[in-house]
Amino acid sequence: MSDSSLSNAALPQHIAIIMDGNGRWAKAQGKPRVYGHKKGVTAVRKTITTAAKLGIKAVTLFAFSSENWRRPQAEVGLLMDLFITLLSKEIKRLHKNDLKLQIIGDKSRFSDKLQKKIAEAEQLTKDNKGLVINIAANYGGKWDIVQATRKLAEQAVRGEIQTQDISEQLMAECLSLSDLPDVDLMIRTSGESRLSNFLLWQVAYAEFYFCDTNWPDFDEDTLSEAISWFVNRERRFGCTGEQIKALMAQE
Ligand code: IPE
Ligand code: IPE
Ligand code: MG
Repeated sequence: MSDSSLSNAALPQHIAIIMDGNGRWAKAQGKPRVYGHKKGVTAVRKTITTAAKLGIKAVTLFAFSSENWRRPQAEVGLLMDLFITLLSKEIKRLHKNDLKLQIIGDKSRFSDKLQKKIAEAEQLTKDNKGLVINIAANYGGKWDIVQATRKLAEQAVRGEIQTQDISEQLMAECLSLSDLPDVDLMIRTSGESRLSNFLLWQVAYAEFYFCDTNWPDFDEDTLSEAISWFVNRERRFGCTGEQIKALMAQE
């Protein structure tokens, strides 16, 4: 266990969120599912503002999974349009606030227009020093592990590394989010308690928080509740509770 994992134990440095329940939220109001997705954007804005205000280092938001292509074509199309509109509309505001935007996932399946918007947004904000916002789009935890393995295999074939050089460290460097600490707090809304192929490796020691709130209703209060719950957890990283208390007393 590294000391840094303890000294940073107060606030989570990296929060990941599975933003779920847009469709059910809309249905409960007698509206089409897409209405829920549009309302979900307001919750994303609130989350970003609150996280930045609290001085959180990074948030990683699950926006579209590698399995979500299975949804009706009209819903997928709307989500893609929403994504393009948002990137165009919000990026200047994010940049002005010194926020850094990154998209993780297999971007090759997106339209040329969307890929171009993503590249422009990432380029514009890449040197910003504030909150890092990662949007997971066409992302799957299994895809991530496969693409990292492929990179390592290619390096081995080229003779740049030996198989015995492959370590947790080297693997982590090839995965998405390698520039950030692992996830401390994973939140899923809407009463579901599954990962749905979101981050796998990066949540190895995350604390998992599940709440019943549907994503469009998620706001500063619900995020604060999740963080308050997190700060009261005792993270042991394999040690005993007594060892952790002794280490805390030394600080
Ligand atoms: C999450 O809400 C948003 C995406 C997956 C894009 P859902 O669309 O999954 O909403 P429910 O789970 O059907 O209510
Ligand atoms: C996971 O939610 C993906 C996102 C939140 C973007 P889903 O609503 O698609 O997950 P399942 O299919 O119910 O597990
Ligand atoms: Mg869902």
